[in-house]
Amino acid sequence: MAPKIPLVAKGAGERTIAVLDVGTSKVAALIALVGGDGEPRVIGTGQKPCFGLKRGLVTDFEKTEAAIRGAMDQAERAAGIQVEFVHASISAGNLGSDVATAEIDIAGASITAADMMTLREAGRARIDPRGRTVVHAQPALYALDGQPGVESPLGFHADRLGMDIHVVTADTPPLKNLDRAIKQAHIGLRSLVASPLAASQSTLEREERELGVALIEIGAGVTTIAVHNYGMLVGVAAIPMGAHDITNDLAAAFATRRSHAERLKTLDGSAMATPKDNHDAVEIPPMSDDTMAEPMRVPKAQIIGVIRHRLDLLFREVQVKLDELGFVGPQARQLVLTGGGAELRSIADFAQGSLGRNVRIGRPRGLTGLPPAQGGPAFATLAGLVLFAAAEVPDIWHMPAPTRSTGGGGRLASMIEKLRGSL
Ligand SMILES: Nc1ncnc2c1ncn2[C@@H]1O[C@H](COP(=O)(O)OP(=O)(O)OP(=O)(O)O)[C@@H](O)[C@H]1O
Ligand SMILES: [Mg+2]
Repeated sequence: MAPKIPLVAKGAGERTIAVLDVGTSKVAALIALVGGDGEPRVIGTGQKPCFGLKRGLVTDFEKTEAAIRGAMDQAERAAGIQVEFVHASISAGNLGSDVATAEIDIAGASITAADMMTLREAGRARIDPRGRTVVHAQPALYALDGQPGVESPLGFHADRLGMDIHVVTADTPPLKNLDRAIKQAHIGLRSLVASPLAASQSTLEREERELGVALIEIGAGVTTIAVHNYGMLVGVAAIPMGAHDITNDLAAAFATRRSHAERLKTLDGSAMATPKDNHDAVEIPPMSDDTMAEPMRVPKAQIIGVIRHRLDLLFREVQVKLDELGFVGPQARQLVLTGGGAELRSIADFAQGSLGRNVRIGRPRGLTGLPPAQGGPAFATLAGLVLFAAAEVPDIWHMPAPTRSTGGGGRLASMIEKLRGSL
């Protein structure tokens, strides 16, 4: 194949970042140019419906591969470049998190770059994935002589230097299957990013992360959660339930096709009812193709009742996860909803009542040139993938081991810089 001529001229020091959000309902692709001090600039996007996944798990390689190829092809054509590697999101695999702690002796000396490297390796050795795959291992908190809260320990005197590492893990087979589907589409996988981390990157304010915030990404098949406090990621969880369950409930309740139920949900659905909804009726086509069969006329309030029942179940599960992650008390007042499920009319009001916290809808920001069609909460993960990749968030597990002979310079120095930048 003849090489494509780039339509977009790359500026000095600019690099291309390509990302893929492979979801239960859609595959979305995005290509951006990142460089200088500017925001990533979107140069191509693509999207295809996907029928090859269930609850975020690849269940049909051919369908998934076709959707990936289709979405990436659209993005490549728009950008005028061909993509070799992508950063992809993951919401399947029962995402969960844990904290690993490491400590080394400094003997009262001033902490050097070499000590930081020793700490990093000690930290890596303390991570126990328990048969799962480590998706992220972010250095979270440093402690000097057991006292936490130092942003960058370099240069401080201490007897002991400690570090907490926030470790996100997932079951291994779903990750391998996603990797295979992407490879089958002839694209290399550069990194996997947990979906709620990506969505957090594109929607949360720095101050929210400092004061305490939980991001709740309601996808089609999976709802994932990322809790942030003191400016750091402190917990991740997943619930195998999503906005597609509302569609299924509506289809079952009114004996109609899922495609009709999907329209009911998105066009007539809401999470809150008004008195008027008792009188407004909606026509629902029957399941069968029998042309004699009459459509059912159902008051909107009844449709909303079915939706609210599912949301009750979902937010009850969310509450359990938030409790488990320790998101309680005065530093746990703010929730941000993302994912296609956050597009449901009045869902923020429902969540506010159900969970007793302030709730807002998170829309992606931080990129220039994001098309309006991708400006809603369903695209928070897609946009966040670019920002996450551009930020080069330090990762104890995946970063290449530094070369010892280089002493305090080169890769080690840049790693320390990144560690420093992480807090
Ligand atoms: N206006 C709307 N009202 C209600 N639901 C909506 C609306 N728009 C989209 N949705 C729902 O959002 C879901 C898709 O969300 P999203 O694109 O975040 O999921 P996904 O990434 O494909 O799935 P997952 O992350 O769970 O694998 C679908 O169930 C869709 O019906
Ligand atoms: Mg998703």
